[in-house]
Amino acid sequence: MAEHKNTSFSRPGGYAMPSGATQGQRKAAVDLPKADIRLYGDSAPGYTPRCRTDLTPRFHAADPDTRVYIGDCRDVLASLPARGEVDLIFADPPFNWDVPYDEWRDGMPRVEYERFTFEWLDACIEALAPHGSLWVNIPDDTAAETVVHLKRRGLTMINWCVWHFRFGQNRESSFIMSKVHALYFVRDAARRTWNADAVLEPSDRATIYSDPRTMAKATNKGMRVPMDVWYGQYWGRIQGNNKERRHLHHNQIPEVYLERVIRSCSNPGDLVLDPFLGSGTTGTVARALGRRSIGIEFSAANAESAWERIVEVGMIRTGDASDRSSAIFQPRKKRRKTPVTP
Ligand SMILES: C[S@@+](CC[C@H](N)C(=O)[O-])C[C@H]1O[C@@H](n2cnc3c(N)ncnc32)[C@H](O)[C@@H]1O
Repeated sequence: MAEHKNTSFSRPGGYAMPSGATQGQRKAAVDLPKADIRLYGDSAPGYTPRCRTDLTPRFHAADPDTRVYIGDCRDVLASLPARGEVDLIFADPPFNWDVPYDEWRDGMPRVEYERFTFEWLDACIEALAPHGSLWVNIPDDTAAETVVHLKRRGLTMINWCVWHFRFGQNRESSFIMSKVHALYFVRDAARRTWNADAVLEPSDRATIYSDPRTMAKATNKGMRVPMDVWYGQYWGRIQGNNKERRHLHHNQIPEVYLERVIRSCSNPGDLVLDPFLGSGTTGTVARALGRRSIGIEFSAANAESAWERIVEVGMIRTGDASDRSSAIFQPRKKRRKTPVTP
């Protein structure tokens, strides 16, 4: 059947973002906190964080200042001297999928898990500087609740990115899972830190279509800001004998993912915080890129291993992924004119 174009809009393509959509988001950030939006997790009993005046990091290094705290992130965040000063938070929480983390019990009743999610999100919001950015790595089953909660707290969504990997567990009862959501929220869209030039990649126009217009641009010829679905070489799940792999850790995130987040949303010397440090990916990349960092981890053994990675092993993929095209098609060959036979 022929496609019928909607001609009532003077913009090309049904998926082009209409002008006004971003302003709509910002307006919603003002209006939504006034609405009475109830989510399932609101009905579970709350957790009272243990505030400590003597909070000290278990591990600490200088140049740039790097700290790791051991404990429940809700307690540590409530006691943190840097509350209200953090430039960027990246959070990759336990998904409540019965993963055998060293000490954390990853199988709460759903209502408790949602409540836990809202509590650590609130603690992160309090830690953020007014211009700060919050990224959350979250799967399908809790993405919607996370988005609604952050909106009802007045944050603005800048991007809903998807991390796509091709090493999903096989199953036949439904489509195979091959993504996690990377949600990018800010406290104040007008003040956020955004370094587009720090994360450019070769555009499809340049690498596939040899489109001369992209090379005629005044700056960043042939380059573009990455799209909001993230994949490619070095973007797979960290499994088996991957050079980045830290054994005994579960759900380790690739360095290139953190590199993109940290470069785009912070500057050298800024403070980056990860409330679920795990194998230490955030701290490792932050330190390699000259950012100060705070990592919080519930398990003492995980924290120790993460620290070794941050200060001794360091970032493995430095420079490997920059300038790498994520095009999925081969370059188009120019059609040759058929020679005229005499
Ligand atoms: C999904 S993993 C994080 C993986 C990490 N992004 C990486 O690349 O290695 C979640 C981590 O959070 C820790 N954790 C779970 N609950 C916590 C809590 N309430 N406070 C702090 N850490 C917690 C777990 O022990 C686990 O190491």
